[in-house]
Amino acid sequence: MSTMTNTRSKAFTINDFKTRKHSKTPISMITCYDYAFARIVDETDIDVILVGDSLGNVVAGYETTIPVTVDQMIYHAEIVRRGAPSKFVVIDMPFMSYHVSVEDSLRNAGDMMKKTGVNAVKLEGGREFKSVVEALTAASIPVMGHLGLTPQSVHKLGGYSVQGREEEKRKRLIEDALILQDAGIFSLVLEKVPASLAQEISEKLAIPTIGIGAGNGCDGQVLVINDLLGLDQGFHPKFVKKYADLFTVAKEAISTYDREVKERSFPSKEHSYE
Ligand code: KIV
Repeated sequence: MSTMTNTRSKAFTINDFKTRKHSKTPISMITCYDYAFARIVDETDIDVILVGDSLGNVVAGYETTIPVTVDQMIYHAEIVRRGAPSKFVVIDMPFMSYHVSVEDSLRNAGDMMKKTGVNAVKLEGGREFKSVVEALTAASIPVMGHLGLTPQSVHKLGGYSVQGREEEKRKRLIEDALILQDAGIFSLVLEKVPASLAQEISEKLAIPTIGIGAGNGCDGQVLVINDLLGLDQGFHPKFVKKYADLFTVAKEAISTYDREVKERSFPSKEHSYE
């Protein structure tokens, strides 16, 4: 068996998604992109790590997730897997890696699984990706769905606003969720939709929903690690709760170092060799 796979007996597995839905015990998911933070997350009880293509925004500084490539996702997921060998890790399929054909999607998802040792892939979109989801699951690649605000479609959606407020769009999202479930997804991310819609979808599905900006009626929650740690002072969407202010902590530490270098108080004897 590959040493890259998750073999610890107490590790969260794909079966736990179902178990948690039945027991109504929420699933906690967090994004992660590098070794240092993966090691921290690995020491917590967080159930699932998502190597999200949000790395395009928070790591690379792109305006959107559209430029993110399969190779960039593989690079980060392989690092995260090394830092968190015991976690259930999901990797995002980036823009245009599952849009061209079923064969191309299989090749990209297969590559991402083989080269990183993650447990599953996630892809954005509804009924238009039914055949892709069916092909991936038939090839033993577990697929997490993603509906509502799907950032890879920002130009089609015309921005990052709440999705599914209008009756027709609400109905379509519910239908898409059921179609994806029939196609074989094991879980579904619902991003930036009204709480009542997320609750209705969660009640209709046999698989768990994971919400982000989707209220408290989902079967789990996900947040971007940089957002919950307060690493970006310019990003304040309503759905983000800042559990720390690491921007300020880091800025103060770096400024203190800068001052001490300039005052020649660092390095002191304590940090020097005889
Ligand atoms: O890329 C990402 O981080 C995501 C989450 C916001 C769900 O898709």
